[in-house]
Amino acid sequence: LDNGVALRPPMGWMSWQRFRCIIDCNLYPDDCISDSLFRQMADRMSEDGYLEAGYEYLIIDDCWLTMERDEEGKLQPDPIRFPYGMKNLSDYVHSKCLKFGMYEDIGVKTCAGYPGIKGHLEIDANTFAEWDIDFIKIDGCYAQPDEFKQDFTDFGIYLNQTGRPIMYLCNWPLYLELQGNLADYPYLAKVCNLWRNYADIQDSYSSMTTIADWFAQNQDRFITSAGPGHWNDPDMLLIGNFGLSIEQAKSQMALWAVMAAPLLMSVDFRTIDQQSKDILLNKNVIAIDQDELGLQGRFLKEKDSIDIWIRQVTPVVNGELTYAVAFQSRREDGFPLALRVTLRELGLNNSFGYFVTDLFEPTNFKRVVNITEEILVRVKPSGVVFLKLVPQTN
Ligand code: DGJ
Repeated sequence: LDNGVALRPPMGWMSWQRFRCIIDCNLYPDDCISDSLFRQMADRMSEDGYLEAGYEYLIIDDCWLTMERDEEGKLQPDPIRFPYGMKNLSDYVHSKCLKFGMYEDIGVKTCAGYPGIKGHLEIDANTFAEWDIDFIKIDGCYAQPDEFKQDFTDFGIYLNQTGRPIMYLCNWPLYLELQGNLADYPYLAKVCNLWRNYADIQDSYSSMTTIADWFAQNQDRFITSAGPGHWNDPDMLLIGNFGLSIEQAKSQMALWAVMAAPLLMSVDFRTIDQQSKDILLNKNVIAIDQDELGLQGRFLKEKDSIDIWIRQVTPVVNGELTYAVAFQSRREDGFPLALRVTLRELGLNNSFGYFVTDLFEPTNFKRVVNITEEILVRVKPSGVVFLKLVPQTN
């Protein structure tokens, strides 16, 4: 969508994966979907280095609404959990130099059963603009798939008419693809800034790799629709929660960077461990994700049960592109396998070779590698080695 935003994949934090639909604030005062939770996350995000690293959108997912619209037909937040209203929270988030995002659903209800926007597209777009939001996620529960195209397109037009640049995430293709219907990605790129292609991520390595595998298997259908202003979205980062080991967390960060994915964390900043935080804040890996060319990478091949993914990035040296290559181990035999590989085998053919750095282990490599040289890449079980290869000139 050509609305001036999402020129790079967005970076931020979204509540769903970690905080779901916790609405009982008596039982879970620290974790319930409430004004207090989002203010605390805004504070941590702006003060603990996330904003500085590029994470700027703070996004409320489902379960913020009350069941009734007001007398003018407008959406309203739950009055107990959001006692100061959404404009007040939005102002607070903006005061922390962050951007503010919200959630709704194109159907008659959200997935969790709150009022959807069906039949109220214009008034709701205006309400969101009055609350000064910068991002909206529109889900696809309780909706007719044959009405998706019209309704998602119209809502985008109403958002645009508000005059406020609002990043638009459409969940529409995921509901088609899950039922075996193919989404029209070139069209999605015209009407949305990002779109969820596939099923919800759950807090486990198997969920993360299922999504990566689905992206690999279907990549030819949607990879070319990614670029500045319009991105595929494999869903939130699990890093710092309960289901991934540290090696697996690096794997998700690297694969998401190769896929030019939105980097939407969903973690409790109040309790995150330092190693997970370091992975989320890794500047080298973030730079690959955010590369200015905006070319989504792809699954290249599997060798010795190591999945090899590759993405073209800057700098471009004498017309030769730089590559980011992720070696992600799917092995279960429990030791760091030394994969033997040549750069030529990966399709790299600059005759002067490439300067190789390891994006997670800066002391590895740091030297020029010729395309015919066999290198050893030691990949830990379910972990990743993520290399950047810059073409040399002589
Ligand atoms: C389904 C979406 O895919 C999730 O990301 C989340 O927004 C839930 N719905 C909320 O109900």
